[in-house]
Order: sequence, then C-alpha cells, then structure tokens
Amino acid sequence: MSPSLTVRRIAADQGAVFRELRTASLREAPYAFGETLEEALSADASTFEATAARHAASAASTSFILYTEGHPAGLIGACFEDAPSHRAFVSELWVAPAVRHLRGGELLVNTASDWLAAAGATEIYAWIADENRNAMRFYERLGFGPTGEHERIPRAPDQFQTLLVRHVPQAASSDDSARG
Ligand SMILES: CC(C)(COP(=O)(O)OP(=O)(O)OC[C@H]1O[C@@H](n2cnc3c(N)ncnc32)[C@H](O)[C@@H]1OP(=O)(O)O)[C@@H](O)C(=O)NCCC(=O)NCCS
Repeated sequence: MSPSLTVRRIAADQGAVFRELRTASLREAPYAFGETLEEALSADASTFEATAARHAASAASTSFILYTEGHPAGLIGACFEDAPSHRAFVSELWVAPAVRHLRGGELLVNTASDWLAAAGATEIYAWIADENRNAMRFYERLGFGPTGEHERIPRAPDQFQTLLVRHVPQAASSDDSARG
C-alpha cells in the first residue's frame, strides 16, 4: 500500500528537522541546488533555527515539509523576490528517494504555489539546472514552461540553468465556466 503523504508549513521549532532535510538533499542531489553540503554542514544549528522561525511567520518566504506516515521526507522553499518585480519562486525542492514517484513532489509544488497565490502571485517561477533532466521533466509535467531566461549557475559557471514559469489559474476562469 502506498504511504500517505502530507505537507505542512514549517513550524518555528523545526530548525533541526530543516537542517536534517537540507543536508540530506545536498548529500543526495548536490547537482540540484545552489548551496553546497559543506556550506550547510558548516552553518550553526542556530542558523537553521532562525530560518525555521522566520519561515514559520514570514509573509515573504517560507518552507513546506513533506511527511510520509508522519516522518519528514521532503522539502520546498517558497518566496517573493526582494525586487520591484516581486516575482514568486519555488526552490530547493527535494523528495527522499524512498518515496519518489508517489506525487510528493507535486504536492509540495502545489502547496507552495497555493501559498504564493494566496499572497497575490499570478505566476510561479522556478530555476532548474539544465543538466537536471528529471527535474525539468517533473516541472514540465506540472505545467511549467520556459520563460526564455537562461543563465550561468553561480556555483558552477560552466553550467546553465533555465527559468520556468507556471501561471496561476485565475478566479475569472470560474466566471467563464459560469457563463457557459
Ligand atoms: C524532482 C523530484 C522532487 C520529484 O519528486 P517526486 O515525489 O518523485 O515527484 P512526483 O511523484 O510528484 O512526480 C514524478 C514525475 O516527475 C517526472 N520525473 C521525476 N523523476 C523522473 C525521472 N527520473 N525520469 C523521468 N521522469 C521523472 C515524471 O513525470 C514522474 O512521473 P512518474 O512518477 O509517473 O514517472 C525528486 O525526483 C527529487 O527530489 N529529485 C532530486 C532533487 C531535485 O532534482 N530537485 C529539483 C531541484 S530544481
């Protein structure tokens, strides 16, 4: 039987869980993220505690945790960029290998997107490393498409990343269906 998957916003006291998931993701999939495992391991526990506390309360950036049968098994970040365009991003998506292909990734992206949309986002953006073909296929399957933005990855300047976007369905579409 498939395990039950749930997603909840990070709580202020989950710094240790956040650290565990971040380091697990950087250890397992270092090609997918801007940060390195060494950077995460060298950060104080207090850094993760402060981030968890901020992400539990902030209106501009947060994290969501995936649970399988109550155990933390995945992570995603959601934030509004600190710039006039105020674009909404999902980032740092990771699902533990043991529970992949069970739609946990989709649940994380959709929950993070809903949170951003509730705060006013009409488009959700995600940077994907070009070499991460699995993630590219995953996001395309969820309706993300290219923006045309393509840039070198700061951590690995010989590699590139592509900016994808998905439009948030607008309330107007229900008016359309009401009109028949
Ligand atoms: C990408 C990732 C989050 C997907 O998580 P998941 O829980 O397996 O995702 P879902 O079950 O919701 O969706 C899986 C779908 O994505 C696509 N996909 C994911 N991995 C794939 C792969 N190895 N090959 C082909 N398609 C793949 C497929 O459409 C797949 O559907 P399927 O399970 O029916 O084959 C997970 O593979 C992961 O954590 N990868 C390492 C970290 C990473 O790359 N993060 C993204 C950073 S941008």
